[in-house]
Amino acid sequence: MQTPVLTIDGPSGAGKGTVSRAVAKLLGWNYLDSGSIYRSLAVAALKADLDLSDILAICRVAEAMSLEFDCGDELIVKLDGADITSQLGTETTGNTASIIAAYPEVRAVLFQKQKDFQRLPGLVADGRDMGSVVFQDAKIKVYLTASAEERALRRYKQLIEKGIDANLPQITREIEERDFRDQQRATAPLTVPEGAHYIDSSSLTIQQVIDQVVNLVD
Ligand code: C5P
Repeated sequence: MQTPVLTIDGPSGAGKGTVSRAVAKLLGWNYLDSGSIYRSLAVAALKADLDLSDILAICRVAEAMSLEFDCGDELIVKLDGADITSQLGTETTGNTASIIAAYPEVRAVLFQKQKDFQRLPGLVADGRDMGSVVFQDAKIKVYLTASAEERALRRYKQLIEKGIDANLPQITREIEERDFRDQQRATAPLTVPEGAHYIDSSSLTIQQVIDQVVNLVD
């Protein structure tokens, strides 16, 4: 039997991570946070002090890196045996990930690492190109989005709750820049995959989104 896949694509801050993890837990399926693979590579590239325009060097690091994921209640990621979870969520890591994710050579190296997550009884895969490239024949595809202002506000509140100083106009600008880079790149740009269910979460609670997605699987 072909392992069923549910893909959830969309821009950063739309709630994909929270929704995907909750849906995977409800269904008892595996979970792939593909952004964390790009973020892990960004951490590795920054640690090695690589020139971010040196595609060959980035590919070498991508091929050599060993990643371990513990997808419990909180995602824990180890890079070459070291826990890098706390470094994954920073703006520097996210922006670096978005820069190196624009290189087709890098995406080709990371392709198989993502495919390896397709194991029984099923997979919920979240990212930018899950339904359009990596799992093109997924049975169910979702495109989850929200306005840039709403996504920036959510990010701002998260940071303030953690006691981190944050600037809302700057976060909005960074989100818009990241959207632009992810949507305009030549390889695997962020698009609504053919046949995807389009959900705008701007005025929905996380629980309402989770319910809508689970209903698609039922
Ligand atoms: O989803 P997240 O914000 O963690 O992803 C970080 C960056 O990695 C994105 O801005 C995007 O450029 C890249 N990415 C990607 N394809 C994916 C997942 C993430 O290009 N499937």
